[in-house]
Amino acid sequence: MTVYHEPVLLKESIDFLITDSKGTYIDATFGGGGHTREILSRLAPEGRVIAFDVDDNSRRIADDLSAADGRFTFLPKNFYSISSLRDEYHVARFNGFLFDLGVSSYQIDNEEGFSYRRDERLDMRLDKGLEASAFEVVNTYDADGLADVFFKYGEEPRARVLARAIIKTRDQKKIETTSQLAEIVARICGRSAKTLSRIFQAIRIEVNKELEALADGLGAAVDLVEKGGRVAVISYHSLEDRIVKEKFRYEASTCVCPPEAIICTCGKVARLKILTRKPIVPGEAEVDGNRRARSAKLRVAEKIV
Ligand SMILES: C[S@@+](CC[C@H](N)C(=O)[O-])C[C@H]1O[C@@H](n2cnc3c(N)ncnc32)[C@H](O)[C@@H]1O
Repeated sequence: MTVYHEPVLLKESIDFLITDSKGTYIDATFGGGGHTREILSRLAPEGRVIAFDVDDNSRRIADDLSAADGRFTFLPKNFYSISSLRDEYHVARFNGFLFDLGVSSYQIDNEEGFSYRRDERLDMRLDKGLEASAFEVVNTYDADGLADVFFKYGEEPRARVLARAIIKTRDQKKIETTSQLAEIVARICGRSAKTLSRIFQAIRIEVNKELEALADGLGAAVDLVEKGGRVAVISYHSLEDRIVKEKFRYEASTCVCPPEAIICTCGKVARLKILTRKPIVPGEAEVDGNRRARSAKLRVAEKIV
């Protein structure tokens, strides 16, 4: 049987996350539930885990888990709605938040349009309720919009040329499949697996508004987590990591006055203490056993007010 998803940095992230075995923890990205199960295994009967995921397959796994363990609740929602937990779901305590970003192995290997390795309809929506899929991005964005996606999210130096090639192709006939797209990318940017994955990942980030969701979800987590509680984020893309690093740094700083100011007048109060000065990365053994772990970075901060 193939594994749905091998959890990354499992011990390291959960060692940091749990500060009270009777607490309430939020797993913002349930996936196959690897991290959630590890949290549950360390909690007392009074402890609780609430998990989010937008993927239907995650929901099926989570439904079985919540039937088997009364301490677990699943919300089939985007984690940008974390801020509704207090008022809409009446959750009173928040001892820790975990974000394990991106997609699961199952999604890459099985769901529509995520991989250039299979010939499928261009989709890439994690949440099938989203209106615009990769098909809409590739077939309706103008040249600037497409080039932005490839340059900003894919760091592709030939972003503009690629955008123009896509527009020229789709003017003749719509680009409907992963293979059609992969062929254009290979012609303009090169055929290496790294290049193709990078461009496909850039489109996926745009389709799912992944960076916007992270900024919103992380902001809400920092607001909600109680004093002494922790926020842990595992990221796989440099732009995700930058959002986490900058948010933690801002929340840990005591002054945001301009550098030329002689005295501090901003009155800023630090809300976080950063627990990982440098991000924690998987060891060689983990990367050897799970190649999807190779780009992972874990950052953790603790609420201090
Ligand atoms: C890397 S996997 C998580 C794996 C999980 N930690 C495990 O051990 O199985 C990321 C999961 O987050 C979900 N996801 C990504 N962005 C999301 C968002 N904004 N809201 C909710 N779920 C999201 C994906 O559908 C995917 O299942």
